[in-house]
Amino acid sequence: MRGPGRCPAFSRWMRLVRLMKVFVTRRIPPEGRAALAQAADCEVEQWDSDEPIPDKELERGVVGAHGLLCLLSDRVDKRLLDVAGANLKVISTLSVGVDHLALDEIKKRGIRVGYTPDVLTDATAELAVSLLLSTCRRLPEAIEEVKNGGWTSWKPLWLCGYGLTHSTVGIIGLGRIGQAIARRLKPFGVQRFLYTGRQPRPEDAAEFQAEFVSTPELAAQSDFIIVACSLTPATKGLCNKDFFQKMKETAVFVNISRGDVVNQDDLYQALASGQIAAAGLDVTTPEPLPTSHPLLTLKNCVILPHIGSATHRTRNTMSLLAANNLLAGLRGEPMPSELKL
Ligand code: NDP
Ligand code: DGY
Repeated sequence: MRGPGRCPAFSRWMRLVRLMKVFVTRRIPPEGRAALAQAADCEVEQWDSDEPIPDKELERGVVGAHGLLCLLSDRVDKRLLDVAGANLKVISTLSVGVDHLALDEIKKRGIRVGYTPDVLTDATAELAVSLLLSTCRRLPEAIEEVKNGGWTSWKPLWLCGYGLTHSTVGIIGLGRIGQAIARRLKPFGVQRFLYTGRQPRPEDAAEFQAEFVSTPELAAQSDFIIVACSLTPATKGLCNKDFFQKMKETAVFVNISRGDVVNQDDLYQALASGQIAAAGLDVTTPEPLPTSHPLLTLKNCVILPHIGSATHRTRNTMSLLAANNLLAGLRGEPMPSELKL
């Protein structure tokens, strides 16, 4: 991908200056693409496909790169950083989650990291609420019954679920997205909000009168649990057998964070045995989840293909922010959203 409409004199000048090499690991939305294409000081190469870049191509592409624009599905580990070499100054990820980046190694090498907080908060919170409602009111099952002839009459006991009015909602991680979810759920008549985290956040919690509790307390007292934390060594496998055993039999579990926060075998057992009522997952391990996965056999498990931030506007804005983070980092300027390492 090269900048459009350059005059011959400009092109001669370009050959005299050293361009910074930028590698982009996927086709990205137009605003981000345009920002990179207009950067006269960069030579941009892109894996121009909607499908993931093969490992070999990624390794070829990063060699000698000064800047890397990557996705949450690209694992940037020590090996890849070694392959990239000493030129690499900036990694810009098209995500707010940074669990795919080997941050210790990146910090050691003095590489700056850009990410995309805030701009996707509303879209992701909206999706979390949609998934919660779809799961607790059994929408996919109901739609299927209409299509397959299972709808024979209005039946008092048929397809009943759980409603939010007077409920207790527990949020694991009352960060940007956790708060945006609580804000959207409050008007549904939620009676009580609980939350967990590394420490209380009294200022953020005040808007919802949310109570800071331990993880076991949150599991035991909530009617709806929403996981909105970041994936870290401390949150990996946090929702496991112990956690699900503490939950109410009528409770609904939703995860929009990362698949690895949940032990999926334990979740399967909890759902299949009726230990908990239902689960809605926007994220799984692995992604994509194989179509033969046992969770897909369960009617009380609603699974989406990681679409939390997937609105046209949000993805475009994310791509522009990721491009601007990258360019600012390469130019030694303050990035619009730099991750503090
Ligand atoms: P924030 O950094 O604002 O929030 C992260 C939250 O995680 C904080 O509330 C933090 O709480 C909490 N947390 C960290 N460690 C722990 C822990 N040990 N136990 C419990 N909570 C913990 O990030 P965002 O809200 O912007 O994004 C959160 C995550 O959502 C992202 O990291 C990403 O993985 C995921 N995401 C998924 C999307 C999707 O498409 N499904 C879209 C966007 C994001 P505290 O600091 O108080 O410990
Ligand atoms: C993120 O940004 O971390 C999401 O998972 C995708 O938008």
